[in-house]
Amino acid sequence: MKVRFGLIGFGAWGQHHARAIHEVSGAELVSIAAHSDESVVRAREQYPQVQVYSDYRAMLEKEDLDAVDIVLPSDLHYRVACEVLESGRHLLLEKPMTLDLSEASALVRLARERGKLLAVGHELRLSSLWGRVKDLIDEGAIGQPIYCLIELWRRPYRLGSGGWRYDINRVGSWILEEPIHFFDLARWYMASAGEPTSIYAQASHRRLDHPELLDNLSAMVTFEKGGYAVISQSLAGWEHHQTVKVTGQHGAIWAKWSGAMDRTFAPTFDLHLQRGESLEQISIDKPSGEVYELVDEVGRFVEAIQGNGVVGCTGEEGRWSMAMCLKAEESLRTYMPISLTGLFA
Ligand SMILES: NC(=O)c1ccc[n+]([C@@H]2O[C@H](COP(=O)([O-])OP(=O)(O)OC[C@H]3O[C@@H](n4cnc5c(N)ncnc54)[C@H](OP(=O)(O)O)[C@@H]3O)[C@@H](O)[C@H]2O)c1
Repeated sequence: MKVRFGLIGFGAWGQHHARAIHEVSGAELVSIAAHSDESVVRAREQYPQVQVYSDYRAMLEKEDLDAVDIVLPSDLHYRVACEVLESGRHLLLEKPMTLDLSEASALVRLARERGKLLAVGHELRLSSLWGRVKDLIDEGAIGQPIYCLIELWRRPYRLGSGGWRYDINRVGSWILEEPIHFFDLARWYMASAGEPTSIYAQASHRRLDHPELLDNLSAMVTFEKGGYAVISQSLAGWEHHQTVKVTGQHGAIWAKWSGAMDRTFAPTFDLHLQRGESLEQISIDKPSGEVYELVDEVGRFVEAIQGNGVVGCTGEEGRWSMAMCLKAEESLRTYMPISLTGLFA
């Protein structure tokens, strides 16, 4: 039986979600809830076989759905996610889960109470490139990881519908917008070093009228059993260039990804591994990039609903990534390192 999907949000990224659901063989895109008249028309044109609503509540009420995928401006995530889980559907929720940690905890609890899956949109975990880095670390190729650098150089963000991404009350924090992916990867890669224990962040901006919108951000994260990670992102660059470097007790990894933009279908990427004194290029057979990883994210979610395997990123993991971002924001405000110890004890 195919998993019957409803999609809420048909904006820039929501349209990619629609494509991804359409491409997954175990999934059926049954309905879309868009918002403005233009979005409703666009959804009907692109998916004439799908029921399109201008009110997500009507969709939740009328449609026979197994799962709902939320791709809305981040300030709407919590309210709509609660309604979806309360309606008894599995939920794939874009990152950041919410803008507030207590709300993220409430969603984790609600999903548990309702016995529904809650998956969070950290698709980099499904990447043939970034996922291979994780596999190499877990296979022991570099020994215990002790240092991890995740760096992104890109052009400024899209505005988002109605300019929500440049409204601090709607985006919550720019650290929750994209650096969250790198906090998520860093904690994932450094898992054998235990949980993060502290964060110290620095940032600068070039919009004098919007100092809260950080163009450049760097953060250092320390871990329980030693080792640290550096996350660094600049929106003052061009194109989309991401680097991951991890060093361990016995080796090192360097992975690079470049594209004219984040959503390119034709990126360049490579991965090198140094074991002791030998340096090798690791071949990656499958293309890497968020447009591909999204399909795998939906595929994993579908398999988990069907009882085969687990989702790419759980609500608990997504909440941890949010916590690291919000503590980095606190560090920026206080100019101090912030403790993460015992956060979810
Ligand atoms: N995982 C990733 O790599 C990734 C990448 C990009 C974005 N995201 C996340 O995905 C989310 C959406 O980002 P985006 O770039 O797609 O933003 P966007 O282009 O602004 O799209 C948001 C859409 O939500 C629609 N919307 C607003 N209120 C609605 C409602 N009540 N019911 C149905 N639709 C409604 C808007 O419709 P109208 O335009 O018709 O008003 C708009 O089309 C954000 O949380 C963002 O952080 C994640």
